[in-house]
Amino acid sequence: MKQGRKKFLKQLGAGLFAAGLPAIPLAADADESGMDTIDFLDEGLPDDERYWKRIARKYYAVADDYINLENGYYGIQPKPVLQAFQKNIITANEQAARFARKDYPAIAAAAKKELAAFLEVSDEEIIITRNATEALNIAIQGYPFKPGDEVMLNQLDYFSMIEAFKMLETRGQLKVNAFEMPLLPQSDDEIVEQYRKLITARTKVILLTHVSNINGLIIPVAKIAAMAKAKGIDTITDSAHALGQIPFSLPQLSSDFVGLNLHKWIGNPVGAGVLYIKKERIKEMKPLFGDVAAAESSINKLAHFGTTPFAVIMTIPDSIAFHRMMGLDKISKRLHYLKTIWINAVKDHPNVEMVTPADLSCAIASFRIKNKSAAEVADYLFKEHKIFTVARQLGKQGCVRVTPGIYNNVADVQNGGQEVPVMQSAKSLLCK
Ligand SMILES: Cc1ncc(COP(=O)(O)O)c(C=O)c1O
Repeated sequence: MKQGRKKFLKQLGAGLFAAGLPAIPLAADADESGMDTIDFLDEGLPDDERYWKRIARKYYAVADDYINLENGYYGIQPKPVLQAFQKNIITANEQAARFARKDYPAIAAAAKKELAAFLEVSDEEIIITRNATEALNIAIQGYPFKPGDEVMLNQLDYFSMIEAFKMLETRGQLKVNAFEMPLLPQSDDEIVEQYRKLITARTKVILLTHVSNINGLIIPVAKIAAMAKAKGIDTITDSAHALGQIPFSLPQLSSDFVGLNLHKWIGNPVGAGVLYIKKERIKEMKPLFGDVAAAESSINKLAHFGTTPFAVIMTIPDSIAFHRMMGLDKISKRLHYLKTIWINAVKDHPNVEMVTPADLSCAIASFRIKNKSAAEVADYLFKEHKIFTVARQLGKQGCVRVTPGIYNNVADVQNGGQEVPVMQSAKSLLCK
């Protein structure tokens, strides 16, 4: 076992022991993991290109036949996590039902405990779902709405959650009250005010999308949730893009219902989400999947969704360990830096419209080009420049979402310190 890894695991174990939690057996064989604390000791400042290139080279295997600026879909697993995952797949496959029935429950329970500690909540307040959509549907469809209740949401929320609420509206269970969020708010206070001024006497729940998947806008969830709570209004928070991208404390969000996932910014294999419900709120929730056996106050009553992906869940402690080693603060600042580089180069072009406030976003930002559909621009970027981005729906024209990942480097968003590929492409597109 590499010395740094050994030390890190020891520290992790000691930390958990001190917190009164059992040490978690990491699924990866540490000898094979190749994760070395020494690699992460440098400050890793956002503009320390040598540091980030070294981390990317050693810990990520990334396709080099295109530039992936669409890391908002899901994140590439670091090599040690991928190795652990592969090993877990083999274990679950070879040992089959005996493993699933005998060994797996304790491994999954330990992984859940580790996840709860990472999220700073009790493991009696979370369930591991297959993704954020499932987590949030359990919260949305399980919430005890009464006829006449209103739900407030806006165009920057995730479409699946909007659709879940609209589905309940067509069933006569609630009324959706949608508003237009300004695309370029100047401050957190301005955002809080957008919500506050549209609250009605019937508002029961506000959907809060912590980091918008459309333009990357980060909203001040804790402030909005506290304001809403003071008026007796609940918030259901979609933190799918927040966990691992930006620092926040789940218990301090003041939101009693939060959905998250681990495959965007935590680097876990695809197929793991989390639903958090504050302990005293569990009792009133109705299960989406039939369950009459679990206690009314147990969150397990919401998790009766059948066979889950064993290896994905077994790998959670490894993903968390790697993410902790990288350091959220370093990750977040680096992502923000990469985003700022391309934004600064394109924002003043007369035909470019930014739809993201640079200061109220992290990795994700979006733009439009005058008279061009977003799909056309995204297609062009890939065909002509091998830059992979994605068109998102936003008004008539849509927008092009650009999301660097931690394994991207400055050259991916900037060309020779002069021109940004995105901008170069935009210009060539405009000159056609
Ligand atoms: C804001 C937001 N919420 C929820 C989701 C759904 O996440 P999942 O794929 O884990 O269901 C996404 C996925 O892109 C998202 O961007």
